[in-house]
Amino acid sequence: MNIVAPSLLAADPMNMERDVKTLEQAGAKWFHVDVMDGLFVPNFSFGYSTVSALRKITDRVLDVHLMIDRPLRYVEQFCKAGSDYLTIHVESDTPENIAATLDKIASFGVKAGISVKPKTPVEAIEPYLEKCDLILVMTVEPGFGGQSFMADMMPKVALLKEKLAKVNPACKLEVDGGVDMRTAEVCKANGANVLVAGSACLKAADKAEFIRSLER
Ligand code: DX5
Ligand code: ZN
Repeated sequence: MNIVAPSLLAADPMNMERDVKTLEQAGAKWFHVDVMDGLFVPNFSFGYSTVSALRKITDRVLDVHLMIDRPLRYVEQFCKAGSDYLTIHVESDTPENIAATLDKIASFGVKAGISVKPKTPVEAIEPYLEKCDLILVMTVEPGFGGQSFMADMMPKVALLKEKLAKVNPACKLEVDGGVDMRTAEVCKANGANVLVAGSACLKAADKAEFIRSLER
């Protein structure tokens, strides 16, 4: 079964707890939490205080996506705030620091993930595939919810699926951006098994049916 991670970027910031509870009742097992610093991406969103506040109200998996520069400076706070998965971007620091950041995440007992922006090739993350518990392929330019799905990222997903089968078959393969009931099908067909969905999920009239349909 696939995992659906509703993105809380699409939730109502004044009613976050209500939206989390609605999504839990609809069957959400993971929550995707987008962290933006206004530097790595041209937008701001949540910080570690949001992660620790979420940790107090839900026991579901917190899948935290750091879209920040030089994340080595902050992963300790995000781990201690209660992240279950903590994903950094390969473009956010030097290769040496990226490896050190993944190790640091793992040292807190938190699952480590690495993400690639649309223009970044698979080769850039190849050295880290064995270190990771999750690989995140962006299917939009990171920074904003509600953008259109980039179907041309699917060969990247398929190639990663193939590589992971050889070196780290337990590693999860996640897609993020523009995922809805229709685009989820092509993601699954190419090997993605964790589907982030922001606007499509939060806007769905029947959220339980939306989640079930993506899980299948
Ligand atoms: C974009 C974020 C996504 C975003 C997805 O930078 O990483 O997680 O919330 O939103 P939708 O599903 O609306 O494209
Ligand atoms: Zn995200």
